[in-house]
Amino acid sequence: VSIGIGILRDLAEHLRARCPAARYVVIADSGVAPLLGDRVREAAAGVAPTDLVTFPAGEWNKTREMWAHLSDELLKRRVGRDGAIIALGGGVTGDLAGFVAATYLRGVPYVQVPTTLLAMIDSSIGGKTGVDVPAGKNLIGSFHQPRAVLADVETLVTLPPIQLSAGMAEALKHGVVADAHYFEWLVEARRAIKQKDLDVMARVVVRSVEIKAAVVAGDERERGIRAILNFGHTIGHALEAVSGFELLHGEAVGLGMAAEARLAHLVGIADQSLGRMIAEALEAFDLPVRPNTVAPVSELLDIMATDKKSRAETVRFALPERIGTMARGEGGEWTIAVPRDAIERVMEELA
Ligand SMILES: NC(=O)c1ccc[n+]([C@@H]2O[C@H](COP(=O)([O-])OP(=O)(O)OC[C@H]3O[C@@H](n4cnc5c(N)ncnc54)[C@H](O)[C@@H]3O)[C@@H](O)[C@H]2O)c1
Ligand SMILES: [Zn+2]
Repeated sequence: VSIGIGILRDLAEHLRARCPAARYVVIADSGVAPLLGDRVREAAAGVAPTDLVTFPAGEWNKTREMWAHLSDELLKRRVGRDGAIIALGGGVTGDLAGFVAATYLRGVPYVQVPTTLLAMIDSSIGGKTGVDVPAGKNLIGSFHQPRAVLADVETLVTLPPIQLSAGMAEALKHGVVADAHYFEWLVEARRAIKQKDLDVMARVVVRSVEIKAAVVAGDERERGIRAILNFGHTIGHALEAVSGFELLHGEAVGLGMAAEARLAHLVGIADQSLGRMIAEALEAFDLPVRPNTVAPVSELLDIMATDKKSRAETVRFALPERIGTMARGEGGEWTIAVPRDAIERVMEELA
């Protein structure tokens, strides 16, 4: 993982060193392609013939259909097993292009060039790829590690403020699950972050990547500790799903963290102040702390049960004891089974 200011200009070198190929296909969405598509295609073309393939931006396009369409575009171009993919964009592009790479001709190498804060600190790291389906988010996918991740924080200059905030939800999550100092520093540095001071942004990306990479390195296939990165995501994914794409992933995760912190208090794991501290941090980055989508709690619970592939009576959550420390179950496991009625209570309080 390379992180820096202006490092996109070294793309050709990175490709030669970490992902040599006879041919590259850059995959970018309709928001990123006009900003960076030509630049990245031309840089890669210095190494091998390169095409740019685009798809319409938006979470609603992270589908099996778009995976099929992009795979067909590669087949049409007769890209062989000596080809490689460059995923240029946010988490939607990374997950989708990564899944194409995981499955195309049984797997070709790929490189992540994340251009949203969320993608730099979270989705480009760890090798999870996949698509959303009507039954829930990310339910069809694969683990496929990128050969390299090139995060140039300069690309964040054009990122809309709401997308920056959405990324900050995941950064705050990294603080909650692993590093209280980082959490406090993020809140203190909020002005510089919101102004996208590039040195400060580089620090955010470096620390978050360190945290995520360390967790993933210890448990690539999520049999144990990797589950702590799901803090905020069990309730978050359910809210995201019922919002009909009104909520950005990061916004939904923020709401999920606020709710799951309250849940941690309700089941006796955390102090009441945890929920307040998390809500204040979210507000510092202009993130919502109360969902404005009204959906029956039973519907949300059904989604949560599918999301975690668990039995319906309880749902397992990764819950913080306090900022920086996650709770362990009796057998040392990193998730705690929470009865439905506790979840119902928290969701009703929030509604
Ligand atoms: N694989 C993982 O481990 C993992 C982890 C976290 C999130 N995710 C997934 O990531 C997705 C969310 O990613 P996201 O928040 O990056 O959304 P996104 O990819 O949809 O990007 C958000 C928007 O910003 C635009 N954009 C991207 N870079 C830009 C730039 N530099 N300047 C201007 N506009 C730019 C895009 O065109 C898009 O419209 C979700 O699907 C989520 O499930 C995956
Ligand atoms: Zn996430």
